[in-house]
Amino acid sequence: MTVTDIHGHVLSGASPQAAEHYQQALDAYHRYGGKPMKHLARALADSPGFVMAHLLKTYMTGVGTDPPTQAIGRAALADARGLPADSREQAHRAAAEALLGGRTRAAGRILEDIAVEHPRDLLALQAGQLVDFLTGDARMLRDRIARALPAWSEGMPNHHALLAMHAFGLEETGDYARAEAAGRRAIELEPRNGWAQHAVAHVCEMQDRRSDGVGWMRGNPCAWSDDSFFAIHNAWHLALFHLGLDEIDEVLALYDGPIYGERSTMPFDMDDAAALLWRLRLREIDVGDRWSILADAYAAQPRGQSAFDDVHAIIAFVGAGRDAEAGAALADMSTATLLTNDNAAVTRDIGLPVAQAMVAHGRGRHGEAVDLLREVRNGAARFGGSHAQRDLLDLTLIDAARRDGQTALERALLAEREAAKPVA
Ligand SMILES: [Fe+2]
Repeated sequence: MTVTDIHGHVLSGASPQAAEHYQQALDAYHRYGGKPMKHLARALADSPGFVMAHLLKTYMTGVGTDPPTQAIGRAALADARGLPADSREQAHRAAAEALLGGRTRAAGRILEDIAVEHPRDLLALQAGQLVDFLTGDARMLRDRIARALPAWSEGMPNHHALLAMHAFGLEETGDYARAEAAGRRAIELEPRNGWAQHAVAHVCEMQDRRSDGVGWMRGNPCAWSDDSFFAIHNAWHLALFHLGLDEIDEVLALYDGPIYGERSTMPFDMDDAAALLWRLRLREIDVGDRWSILADAYAAQPRGQSAFDDVHAIIAFVGAGRDAEAGAALADMSTATLLTNDNAAVTRDIGLPVAQAMVAHGRGRHGEAVDLLREVRNGAARFGGSHAQRDLLDLTLIDAARRDGQTALERALLAEREAAKPVA
């Protein structure tokens, strides 16, 4: 008997019961909350040869996580190898292989082809949008999703997730009004969708609507913070709104609470912590021993997997005044440029100069920081993240220009910034 999912995609190796557990895992994954791993465990206990269940586990754990979690993803991919699979499932397996093999852009292309053929394959769209996020491809963040819209309609299961992804893509391409409308509609359909909550927060951030942002995040905080694996990043966005309002006590309370209170060892979470402390540093706000605690955590992490993560590690070492570790991390980044994965080129072209700029800023060589950042900032999207995350580069450049006495440049950069953030 052939078992399929709710859209008719074949689920090789699955019993009907396992397929139900898998769908529950997907439902959770698509809203960035709940317990998808628990549902996957049930699916695989029932049907160990269920290839897509193994691959969903790989997508969830294999990239952007700490080494123990990555090991789960690698083991799941190993379990998926050799299992019966149809052409769509084989393509997912190839995408997962590419993703874990550091061929990120190739993974994005395979996932693109899956979704072109199967526009209701929401997993292909979501994993693909993750790739677009990792590669900083704003146009694909929007268009990968836009292509699938004709195959979807209101009332279909998890339509909220499609809207949320489209909202984020629209935001990263500057279409703020449509982004906000799509994100708010997604939240109406599923208030716990952490990605939709996030997309609207990004619109508020890009439009400098700080009070609106606080209102949006504080309006229904349990929906995006309880039982969500995106709560830390959303709390980081709330902290940015408070920072914009000069409410430093709120910022520190969020840092000590939802952002870094539990001292997540996931690089993506740690990067938010580092970026927030750096923004406070640029304002010359004393953060006590927070830098050294974070630097200790980064010291235990591997290097050379992600230029984005390595830059944030160096930010933490600079912030903590640990020059030797910052220098060693720079050397690790140089070594990473010698590899043959996608990260090598990104590290060479973007990550390393940005990291050198941060070190220069930390050592008071502000003219050098200006030169390094001016050289790379317009291409910095390649090292991933969002406009809001990469804004750290612009903020550092403006600060370095000011400290170096380059007042005309500082004035020009501030004017550029003001013009790019019109209030809606
Ligand atoms: Fe974000």
